[in-house]
Amino acid sequence: ANTPGAAAAQTGRYFGAGISGHLDEAAYVNTWTTEFNGVTPGNEMKWSTTEPRRDQFNFAPADEIVSRARDKRMTIRGHTLVWHAQLPSWVNDLDATNLRSATRNHINQVMGHWKGQIYAWDVVNEAFLGDGTRRQSVFQQKLGDGYIEEAFRAARAADPNTKLCYNDFNTDGVNTKSTAIYNMVRDFRNRGVPIDCVGFQSHLSSNSSLSTYQANLQRFADLGVEVQITELDVGGSGSAQADVYRKVTQACLAISRCTGITVWGITDKYSWRDEETPLLFDNNYAKKQAYYDVLYAL
Ligand code: XIL
Repeated sequence: ANTPGAAAAQTGRYFGAGISGHLDEAAYVNTWTTEFNGVTPGNEMKWSTTEPRRDQFNFAPADEIVSRARDKRMTIRGHTLVWHAQLPSWVNDLDATNLRSATRNHINQVMGHWKGQIYAWDVVNEAFLGDGTRRQSVFQQKLGDGYIEEAFRAARAADPNTKLCYNDFNTDGVNTKSTAIYNMVRDFRNRGVPIDCVGFQSHLSSNSSLSTYQANLQRFADLGVEVQITELDVGGSGSAQADVYRKVTQACLAISRCTGITVWGITDKYSWRDEETPLLFDNNYAKKQAYYDVLYAL
């Protein structure tokens, strides 16, 4: 195979890109649709875009991405339903009763709009802190510990045929945060709370230690959930950057339940980490060393 998407497909996986905006730029769209066989809308499915005012839904920006992705038979990840960031202020102003019903409605409407079209949804994003405690988001503060479980149950009802993921960052090894999430997932599996996958954002740097990266993915996989690398990017350049990309790719391939890798953007030019050149294509869409190391590892 001569693209990461085609190489990943040979083992039944996807290799996707987070994309946002720039659909009028030919090089951007061409690189996406040629090199990748998956996509995550980078911003367009977030609450601030999909429901900027209560009960007024706006699906058009994500629809543009989804329709192109469907034309190319790509694997589409939905991102994200319950998250403290990019959340419209009206949500913060609700009392507990209204927040609970608004959250349920948001999940129903957004998942319902793309029902049957999304491979996996990030139902809850970034609910834990580095010390393993819950982030004190509006959901945590007003709805309590049960809000994550409530969200997953609502999501299962809204679209029974998509995979439901918990997604977070700084979970790139066996550490306090990943262990807290592991304990939650184990508890959910034991009690029959619907959860199918865990997303590891993997916003990394060239000097990230990956000594327990694969072991961490494996312990989650051993709970019976899929694991996915959901927002991979690696600050740095050259062989140090390429090494990290290669090790992450190899870790996923070593785990049968690791079903796909998504890099968080296409070109360094538009990366959210704008000074860090963390992606596989440079500002001019030239393939970087990291690109070739990923391609040969897949
Ligand atoms: C980022 C987007 O890439 C930016 O364009 C936006 O300004 C902020 O959010 N964790 C996540 C992603 O789950 O949604 C974030 O994406 C990066 C961190």
